Amino acid sequence: MIKLTINGEPRSLDVPADTPILWVLRDTLKLTGTRFGCGMALCGACTVHLDGNPIRSCTTPISMAEGKQISTIEAMQDDPVGRRVQQAWMDEAVAQCGYCQGGQVMSAVALLKDNPNPDDAQIDRQMSGNICRCGTYPRIRKAIHRAAAAAEKKAASIGEPLFTEVKV
Ligand code: FES
Ligand code: FES
Repeated sequence: MIKLTINGEPRSLDVPADTPILWVLRDTLKLTGTRFGCGMALCGACTVHLDGNPIRSCTTPISMAEGKQISTIEAMQDDPVGRRVQQAWMDEAVAQCGYCQGGQVMSAVALLKDNPNPDDAQIDRQMSGNICRCGTYPRIRKAIHRAAAAAEKKAASIGEPLFTEVKV
C-alpha cells in the first residue's frame, strides 16, 4: 500500500511500487487532465508537481511519491498561482489543439512560484522541456508575463491604502 496526498486528499493506493505516476493518475484515479505524450520524459505533457517541483510523471514510479504531495492540473483552479496562470492562458488564447497545455501550465506555475517575475530567458529555460507541436511558444511566453503582472498588480493593490489620509 502506498500512502501519499493527491490534490490535497490523503490516499492509500494498492498498486505495484514501480507503476509510473501517470498511469496511477489516469487509470487508477481517473485524473485524465495529465496527458501521455512520449512516455520517455521528453515532451513534458505528463508534468505534475511532486512536493511543488515539476516532474515527468510518465517515468517517475509511484514509490517515489510515498509520503509526498502530488498536484495535478485538476487542482490548479484552487491554487492562487494556478488560477492566475489559467486566466492568463485564456486571455492570451494560448492553446491550439490543447494537448500539451496541461503540462505547460504545470511548468509555468512551478516557475512563477519559484520566480514571480521571470524574464524571457528564464521562461525559455524553464519551459524548454515542454514541447508544443502547434508552436504556441510565443503565446506561452506572453501568458507567463501576463500572469506575473497580474500577481504584481494584486500585491500592489493590497498595499494601497483604502482611504487617503487628509492632514489638517
Ligand atoms: S509523456 Fe512524459 S515527458 Fe512525454
Ligand atoms: S497546443 Fe497543440 S501541442 Fe501544444
